[in-house]
Amino acid sequence: MTDATGSTTADVSFAAPIRKGPRGHLLLPGGFGRSTLSMGDSTPFVARGEGYRIWDNSGRELIDANNNFTVAVHGHAHPEIIEAAEGALRNGSSFGLPNPYEWDHAEVLLERLPWLDQVRYVNSGTEAVMTAIRVARAATGRDGTIMLKGSYHGTSDTALVAGGGNYLRGVPQGVIDDVTVLPLNDIDALREAVERDPERYATLVMDLLPNRAGLVSITPEFAAAARELTAAHEIALIFDEVISFRLGYNGLGAVYGIEPDMVTLGKVVGGGFPVGAVVGREELMRELSVEVPKFLEHGGTFSGNPVSMAAGAASLQLLDAASIDRLNSLGDQVRGSIEARVAPVGWEVRGRGSIFRPFVKGAERMDADLQRRLWWAAYERGVLLMQTNCAALSTPMTDEVVVDLGDRLTAAVLEVADRADG
Ligand SMILES: Cc1ncc(COP(=O)(O)O)c(C=O)c1O
Repeated sequence: MTDATGSTTADVSFAAPIRKGPRGHLLLPGGFGRSTLSMGDSTPFVARGEGYRIWDNSGRELIDANNNFTVAVHGHAHPEIIEAAEGALRNGSSFGLPNPYEWDHAEVLLERLPWLDQVRYVNSGTEAVMTAIRVARAATGRDGTIMLKGSYHGTSDTALVAGGGNYLRGVPQGVIDDVTVLPLNDIDALREAVERDPERYATLVMDLLPNRAGLVSITPEFAAAARELTAAHEIALIFDEVISFRLGYNGLGAVYGIEPDMVTLGKVVGGGFPVGAVVGREELMRELSVEVPKFLEHGGTFSGNPVSMAAGAASLQLLDAASIDRLNSLGDQVRGSIEARVAPVGWEVRGRGSIFRPFVKGAERMDADLQRRLWWAAYERGVLLMQTNCAALSTPMTDEVVVDLGDRLTAAVLEVADRADG
């Protein structure tokens, strides 16, 4: 099917979004493949994407401010990323031998994280965090992990503990006991926990812009205290930059002027294909080296596969310092313009650089129903938000598109704020 401009539009011949199998059961638990994607029975699904736009199964065109939870920093089907991925794919998608794309990608990453030495690739951010924590435990001979309340670091057992509540279901008590969860930006609590029993902790894992904790920035003072305390007690400091890496050429840690011992990555570093990476100092990363006695067993059938590596390296090369600066300043502008219009109804816009999120002013959490209503209000105005209401800009977005996005989101916030008051 083609539209007036001659480009292909979505095939609208899909069946109802939630599908059942022949025995009447939903094909997927709850109807969806990821718990984060469920927006009720009428949740739309995607037909295709191009640049900053996507089309859903009804043919509706949307500005994609979700970008698969920040992954698609160059939008969808970027020609140079397609070319890189296809170039690799034509020679085979995965092998039981090392491939040169992995070295190429590691060179690109280490150029951006020059104080770190080595990279181990995995297939997701979850695996990256899980692996980095295990490296820290092995290197220090300690079991404890410190995390910050409400931060999301994927779905490994240890990582889930930071979420509390339902996140703890299915996590063994022994794992829960090994994790200390501290309030965000509370230097005294951090100092007290570390100094009470420094020998307990292998690592402090933190995200400098934790989305699920409300997209509140970690303060420079807290980040500096984290570096100082972990260094003093030989605790490995891990910055989880699975999302925040897109905010600075050398990651968000470098914007804070802090060099953690390991950085965990995912999302943008795979160019839209499955990826995760642990980047770390050689003294730590050597735990994964087969040349070391009792090295850590680590594999992953698809780890470092040529397609993810080639597409990821192309994506990173496109995401140069100038494009990051441009996206970040567009983010600052749109945040300011939305906030000026929603402040009178008691809302604010949180975030940093190219990532932002409308929020009830000063609230610690957003009510799940309100969050869902805002997502739908934006959807009905042609904007796809993350289901957490977070938005991420992409490089194909022009200044005009971002202004348009800001206007639509403002209208969506005003609608739900109005209804929340009433
Ligand atoms: C900060 C952070 N760490 C880890 C993860 C897990 O990454 P993945 O979904 O690729 O497993 C996420 C996912 O959103 C994340 O935001």
